[in-house]
Amino acid sequence: MPITLFPVNRRRFMAGTLGGAVSLLFHPVWGAESETHSQDVWAILSDTHIPGDRNKSGGNPAVKPVEHLSKIRRDILSGEIGKPCGLIVSGDCVYLHGLPDDYKTLLEEFEPFRQKGLPVHFVMGNHDNRQAFLNAVRNTVAPSTNKTIPPTGESILPTGESILPTGENIPSTNETIPSRLHLVVETPKVNFFLLDSLDKTNHTPGFFGEEQLQWLTDELDSRKDKPAILVAHHNPDYSGNIVKAPGALQDTNAFFERIRDRQQVKAYFYGHTHTWKTLRVSGIHMVNIPATAWRFDQQQPFAWVLLTLKDNGMSLTLRSIDPKHPKHNEIIDLSWR
Ligand SMILES: [Fe+2]
Repeated sequence: MPITLFPVNRRRFMAGTLGGAVSLLFHPVWGAESETHSQDVWAILSDTHIPGDRNKSGGNPAVKPVEHLSKIRRDILSGEIGKPCGLIVSGDCVYLHGLPDDYKTLLEEFEPFRQKGLPVHFVMGNHDNRQAFLNAVRNTVAPSTNKTIPPTGESILPTGESILPTGENIPSTNETIPSRLHLVVETPKVNFFLLDSLDKTNHTPGFFGEEQLQWLTDELDSRKDKPAILVAHHNPDYSGNIVKAPGALQDTNAFFERIRDRQQVKAYFYGHTHTWKTLRVSGIHMVNIPATAWRFDQQQPFAWVLLTLKDNGMSLTLRSIDPKHPKHNEIIDLSWR
């Protein structure tokens, strides 16, 4: 079960579910109807840390996460650098404690993407709360719209209604939610595996857990034909010794054991450290997505990343809020192992 906000009033031209996966290809509205939209271009964001109160600041020095997100939203929706078919947010979506009001603001701030026809996939971070997130999606959806979007793709909301995000597959209030929210998103060139490393809200370390790793293994084994990009919130513990990286992914070794020899795994995207960095481990690209909210190192950019998928690799373009940042528009081309 994912937390995905689906677009309104846009034609879905392929949809289906298979073993907990979704193949969801939408038709964003970037321009003329005849314009070809690539399903190979994505916007990747991380650590948006949106508070309920839009004026609230965070970090040191303090900045306003909502202001940052609005600048990034403008940049993405301008289509200037590329025209993504969807967004993935790799965790720490809200401020610190995963409060209901935080999620209300978060969903409102992402609404313009949905209006543009872009689905948004949210991944859980250590400052998220699954139940509060699911409740917010459920509560902001008009009852009549909490249904599968019709195949025709026409708007499921009455004209003129104040539109709030629509969630699909959101369980009812009395349904027990799974301990981890994970999802496969199938696209023409790659399969994304969205993983959940949230262990405890506002508790720094992350943990996938054996159950989720087994799910990942099974899903990978049934999709050997296409490159796999894994996305989660926590940074791997590269030291191989969890004592040295107490805030990292605590079951890094078990995770790497599952992915190292599965040749279809080409990249792992994560956030958490609020750092822009790429490196390679066993031939797998490790891509650290920077934060849109605050930073721990003042040299780091507030930024998002445009991901362009290619036949044998991918291209990453960093888009900084500050166009004078030395990393702004940095392009990193990476080929698959
Ligand atoms: Fe964060």
